[in-house]
Amino acid sequence: MLRRSLRSIAFSASRNYVVKSLYSNMAQIIDGKAIAQEIRFQLGKELKQFVEEGAPVPHLTAVIVGDDPASEKYVANKMIACREVGISSETKRLPSSTTQEELLQVIADLNQDPRVNGVLVQLPVPEHINERTICNAVNVDKDVDGFNELNIGRLALDMDGIIPATPLAVKTLLEHQNIETHGRNAVVVGRSKNVSLPMAILLHADGKYATKALDATVTICHRYTPPKELARYCRQADIIVVAVGKPGLITKDMVKPGACVIDVGINRIKDENTGKFKLVGDVDFEEVRQVAGHITPVPGGVGPMTVAMLMQNTLKAAKNQFYDRKSS
Ligand code: GUN
Repeated sequence: MLRRSLRSIAFSASRNYVVKSLYSNMAQIIDGKAIAQEIRFQLGKELKQFVEEGAPVPHLTAVIVGDDPASEKYVANKMIACREVGISSETKRLPSSTTQEELLQVIADLNQDPRVNGVLVQLPVPEHINERTICNAVNVDKDVDGFNELNIGRLALDMDGIIPATPLAVKTLLEHQNIETHGRNAVVVGRSKNVSLPMAILLHADGKYATKALDATVTICHRYTPPKELARYCRQADIIVVAVGKPGLITKDMVKPGACVIDVGINRIKDENTGKFKLVGDVDFEEVRQVAGHITPVPGGVGPMTVAMLMQNTLKAAKNQFYDRKSS
């Protein structure tokens, strides 16, 4: 009797230990900055080889309309990445008074320019300009953002095209960390056309086809998903991707132990301790890292990977254009 109860105490103690050590483990932090650096290095080598084959140095032109400081910063980061990879680049700055017609003419000129392989118009554009009209005006082969309706359509139909950089960044991070997605539950929080929609497509579509998608079972939650339902869906997810712009939206109680949490949000908030501004995501990082298996930080997670994917898209566009031209 005594021996049996001692054995059961020992068993339950060891089981508690296993359970405790499982859940006391902090999530592995996915270092997007380091992975992006590795990718930029590989792209630099690939670009060198491409140019040695006789191709012109790939060129990216970014257009900024207005003087939004965040856009200036994002585009400056893109230009730095171009320099590092060896892509030639230029930023065209237009005043916020630029009309839609004038912007369309700038895009038409870039579409026609054979020296330009990639064109991006930094978003948001001023309110008097229709964002969709602008995204559709960029030539589909030079559309390194992948925002043109033809590129989104190709993605939706499992066809080869240019995939928007942020969802592509998330996919690459999941693959880099060997996160299993096939048949797993994924939740995308947010329904923007440039990030969450292509993200949901990439997560759910078939890995056998050109987009090499991730075969997950996907739920999309958005502003009309009641908070209780959002928490319920998230708790069932093996992978959560959140791209909303709400600091602290995803809390510890919404995350299944061991889940992979990818934070696409970028929010500038005032630090209550220092009074200084800082960047945070949509996830309560300090809390959620106590239960998640993997988590991306903000900054240093998806952001730098997005820029690396833009470089990858630019090199891909330049290669497509070069080999098409050579064969025609
Ligand atoms: N604004 C915020 N993110 C992006 C992006 O990925 N591309 C462009 N063009 N504008 C943005």
